Amino acid sequence: MTPRNIIIAVDGYSSCGKSTLAKQLAQHLDYMYIDTGAMYRAVTLYFTNHGVNIEDLHEVQSALEHIHIAFRNMEGQNTTFLNGANVESEIRSLAISGVVSEVAAIPEVRKKMVAIQRDLAAAHSVVMDGRDIGTVVFPNADVKLFLTADVEVRAQRRFEELLAKNEANITLEDVMANLKHRDLVDTTRADSPLVMAEDAMLLDNTHLTISGQFKLALKYINGRIAH
Ligand code: DC
Repeated sequence: MTPRNIIIAVDGYSSCGKSTLAKQLAQHLDYMYIDTGAMYRAVTLYFTNHGVNIEDLHEVQSALEHIHIAFRNMEGQNTTFLNGANVESEIRSLAISGVVSEVAAIPEVRKKMVAIQRDLAAAHSVVMDGRDIGTVVFPNADVKLFLTADVEVRAQRRFEELLAKNEANITLEDVMANLKHRDLVDTTRADSPLVMAEDAMLLDNTHLTISGQFKLALKYINGRIAH
């Protein structure tokens, strides 16, 4: 009998270290890491570059037909490709962060992304990070983690990340405003809002180190799945 694929869902607020934890877990467990936020960001980049009016359902639907998203491992880094082009760095800009929540609130966009996410997990054991993984995409996930941290701490961490990438003319206030905006849109949208699944483990990492968080998560996972 082939062992069945395992699904670990890592959901939570913007910039609270989901991808850091999910990548560590995927590497440790030898599962595939899937960054679902990158998928919504890639769609947003396509819409922006092609002037798609997100209020116009027909425009959105026909644009979606031209979007192909893939992940490849480039020098050990999970890298996002949009229609064959490496867009990993472009999708992380504050300009894309500024509109991605509005794009991610569109049901047609979510439908297409969720179908891709389910296909990926049909073929591999996965650690998938996002907002609705444990609630909508995989309500029966083997393990569900829900991450949070104080918004001031999240803003400071993201600000330092953007500075390190030489994003010009950005203030801590811009980053904080963006996070608050995304928290609001992500938690209040009608389709698949960000909410903690009842059976998720809550991990508040405001006062945790990256390795402290990893140890806690791994201990919880080991208690829930047999390797
Ligand atoms: O994780 P991230 O910050 O890269 O996600 C970007 C945006 O995409 C986020 O503001 C909300 C949206 N998103 C979503 O709606 N559902 C997911 N599963 C992942 C991200």
